[in-house]
Amino acid sequence: MIYINHRRSLREWARRVAGVFYAVLVVVGGVGQAQEHGAPYLRKQGTATQLIVDGQPFLILGGELGNSSASSLEYLRPHWEKFQSMHINTILAPAYWELIEPQEGRFDFSLVDGLIRDARTHGIRLVLLWFGSWKNSMSCYVPAWVKKDVDRFPRAQDGNGRSMEMLTCFNRNNLEADKNAFSALMRHLRDVDGREHTVLMIQVENEVGMIPDARDYCGEATKAFQSAVPAELMTYLQEHRVNLQPELRAVWEKGGFKTSGTWEEVFGKGLHTDEILMAWNYARYVEEVTAAGKKEYGLPMYVNAALIRAGYQPGQYPSGGPLPHLMDVWKAGAPSVDFLAPDIYHGSFVDWSSKFHRADNPLFIPEAGFTHRSSADAFYVIGQHDAIGFCPFSIESIDPARSIDPAGYRLVRSYDLLTQLAPIILEKQGKGALAGVSVERSRLETQVKFGEYVMTISFEPLDRYASKPAEADPRGGGVIIQLGADEFIVAGSGLIVTFQSLNPKRPLAGILSIDEGAYEQGVWKPGRRLNGDQSHQGRHMRLPYGDFQIQRVTLYHYK
Ligand code: DGJ
Repeated sequence: MIYINHRRSLREWARRVAGVFYAVLVVVGGVGQAQEHGAPYLRKQGTATQLIVDGQPFLILGGELGNSSASSLEYLRPHWEKFQSMHINTILAPAYWELIEPQEGRFDFSLVDGLIRDARTHGIRLVLLWFGSWKNSMSCYVPAWVKKDVDRFPRAQDGNGRSMEMLTCFNRNNLEADKNAFSALMRHLRDVDGREHTVLMIQVENEVGMIPDARDYCGEATKAFQSAVPAELMTYLQEHRVNLQPELRAVWEKGGFKTSGTWEEVFGKGLHTDEILMAWNYARYVEEVTAAGKKEYGLPMYVNAALIRAGYQPGQYPSGGPLPHLMDVWKAGAPSVDFLAPDIYHGSFVDWSSKFHRADNPLFIPEAGFTHRSSADAFYVIGQHDAIGFCPFSIESIDPARSIDPAGYRLVRSYDLLTQLAPIILEKQGKGALAGVSVERSRLETQVKFGEYVMTISFEPLDRYASKPAEADPRGGGVIIQLGADEFIVAGSGLIVTFQSLNPKRPLAGILSIDEGAYEQGVWKPGRRLNGDQSHQGRHMRLPYGDFQIQRVTLYHYK
C-alpha cells in the first residue's frame, strides 16, 4: 500500500470526526471507561508499572527478531508457528525507515501491515522498533535520499573532522525528516491497529550513542559544546540534586554545583563532559521524535541502551546512550520516553537489571543475549524486578527441540511455566509477594524474605547433567510467589530451597506439604505429593535441574 502525504488531511479529518463521535458515545451512552478500550498504556500497581492491554495487565514473554528478518514476510512465514509452540506472546520487530519511506513523502506500509496481519493470525503481539536515524549508533536504515544528501542531512564527525555514516543529532533537518516519517508510521498504526492492539509498544531508535569518539565534532556540535548548558537541564539538576545518579552528581559537585555556564564550566573538562553533552542532545532529539509519534498514537515508547564493557571509556562504547549513569540526563531531556531499557549481552544480568530498575524506570529487557542462562534470567527479572517483559535476541534462530539446542528447550520450558503463572504474577506485582532468583558464578546461594519466613535458595550443581565441562556453569533460576501467610509457589529449575522461621516464639520452619502441579486457565491442578525422597523427607524443596516444575508448598512454624 502506498500512502502520499496530501491524503493525510482527509484521513485526519475523518479520524477527528470518528473521535468526536466516540467521545459523545462515551458520555451519552456510557460506553464504559474510554481508556479500557483505548491503546495499550502503562499503569502503576503498588511499586510496579504494568503494561495494560485491552484493560488487563500483560506480561511480555517475548523475543526480538534478528535485524533483517522482518524485511521479508516470506522469510518469517515458517517461524510464526514455531513462536506459538515456544509460548512466545510478543515479537519485537524492526520498522525500517528506508523501506517505509523509500522516496521522500511517499510511504509504503506494506511490510508493517503484513507483519501485523501475520502476527494477528497467530495470536502474537508486536513491539515495533523504529530503525530511524540510528541503529547501533550508525544511520544504516535511513533512506537513500537522506544518505545521499549530506548537505541537507549532515553527518556527525569524529575528532579528526571526518564525516561518519551517522546523522548528527545537532541538526534540525535530520530531526524533522525522522519525525515526519515516525509520525506517519504512528498515524498509520492508529488507523490499522487502533482497535485490535496487536502493536503494544514502540522502541524509538536503536542503541543510540557516539562512537569512536565521546562526542560529535561537527560544526553544530562544537557550537553547542561551547554554549551554555540549557536551562531545562540545569533546572532538573537543581530540583533532583539529592537523588541524582552518583556519577553525575559527583562531576557536578566537583565544579561546585554551578547553576549556569558552558558544559566544561559546569561539569569540568574530560570525556565524561563530552558524553553528558551527547546524552542531552540525543535525548532532546529522541524526545521530539517520540512526542510527535505519541501525538498521532499514544503507545508506550522506550529507548534501549548498548551497555558498557568493564573498563571502557566514553567513545569506546556508544557514548551518551540511555545508560544508568546518564539516566537523569535522559529523564530531563526526554520526558515523553516512558522508560530506558538495557540490552544485556555481557556483564552480570543481575547487576544491569538492578541498575535500570528505578522507581521512575520500570524494567523491560528488549534484548538479551540468548544463552543457557536465558531461562533463569527470564524468571529472575519477572520475579525480582516486576519486569514488563523479557526478550532474547534473534529469537527466530532458536531451535526449541531439546536434542539440538538445550538452551532453546530450557527457554521454552520457562516460558511455558511463566505463561501458566502470568495471571498470578500480574496480580501480585508491586505488592511485595514476588521474588526471582537466578544463579551467578559469584553467587551460588541467595536468600529471600516473605513475612515470617526466610527462604535460602541454593542452585543445583550441574556436574551430573553437563555433557561437557563448559556447560557445567550452574544456571538454575526460578520465581517465588507468596499466596498466603504460609503458602508459596516456587517454579523453575535447578533450585534447592530451605526454610527458616522469623517467628521468635516458634523459631523453626517446617514443611506441611509440597505438591507439584500445573495451572490450567488459572486453576491449580495438583499432581504428585512430594513429601518423601523428592523433598528429602521434608528437609527441603527441590526443583531438579533436568526438569522445569511448578511446586506449591505450605509451611508452618514450630519449636
Ligand atoms: C544489539 C542491537 O540492538 C541489535 O539490533 C543487534 O545488532 C544485536 N546487538 C547483535 O548482537
